[in-house]
Amino acid sequence: MLLRSFSDKELRVWLKLEYTNPGGSHKDRAAYYMIKQAFEKGLLRPGSRIVEVSSGNTAISLAWIGRRLGLEVYIVVDSRVSPTKVSLLKMLGAKVEIAPLVPPEHPLFKRNIAIAIAREKSAVFLDQDSNDANHLAHYESTCVEIVEQLGRVSAFVMGVGTGGTITGVGRCLKERMGSDVKIYGVVPKGSSLDPSVSTGRRSYIEGLVGSTKPELYNKYSKYVDELIPISEEEALAKLRVLMMNEGIAAGPSTGAAIAAIEKLKNLGKIRGDVVTIAADSIVRYPHILEKLVG
Ligand SMILES: Cc1ncc(COP(=O)(O)O)c(C=O)c1O
Repeated sequence: MLLRSFSDKELRVWLKLEYTNPGGSHKDRAAYYMIKQAFEKGLLRPGSRIVEVSSGNTAISLAWIGRRLGLEVYIVVDSRVSPTKVSLLKMLGAKVEIAPLVPPEHPLFKRNIAIAIAREKSAVFLDQDSNDANHLAHYESTCVEIVEQLGRVSAFVMGVGTGGTITGVGRCLKERMGSDVKIYGVVPKGSSLDPSVSTGRRSYIEGLVGSTKPELYNKYSKYVDELIPISEEEALAKLRVLMMNEGIAAGPSTGAAIAAIEKLKNLGKIRGDVVTIAADSIVRYPHILEKLVG
């Protein structure tokens, strides 16, 4: 949809409402592609087990699709994840491990727990942080829909978690429209991908990159022109405006993307038709909604 309150004569901002997918986020695409590819490779069959580390959205999509295909689903989340997502996962029958906030070298770091579950339960670790099927899902589906719906665009702006969406859409747009299409990644201030000399604490924007660098993003980062650091406060402020002015109840990573678009607009870096994605909905974060109420 066109966001009129963020657009003007020079710039039209388009928001793709991915929270309308059946699993509630853009991650339905990556989850479906990763499972489909594992079936095709003969790694999975009904009754098999899968395990994944997720900030919740991939997990919910995997739990839903996995259940439909007769898989047993193990999910590792960290202790900051929205309790609503954990409840949804349990309702869908997934087995959920909540990992403590420890450094990557610690045995209880979320990824290390997933590797241990894969070993102990003979489960397939889908590993969205390095799985090419995640990138391919957005290369083959999200991008194609954007092009079908909008035709030529001038820029794509998206929060970076695993990097699957930004690199998949970025690669496809650049291949179809040339290097004039600008691809802007949005990262939390102080995160591992913040290009500025960052001071102060690391912002937490659920779903976006934290202290580790995702392998998938590194592999395809040549399709991204610039990374824009955004704080949690900036993201939440835009989320409120989005809700008040446009009636869109999107999640925090969407607020971050809108904040980045405003910055790029003020710097005169974007014009024409610019697209971003509402990855999920604020309904998944009632604790944040309460903060916004005051
Ligand atoms: C709410 C939300 N926004 C953005 C992203 C980033 O998407 P990607 O992992 O494709 O970079 C995620 C990833 O989990 C997410 O959950």
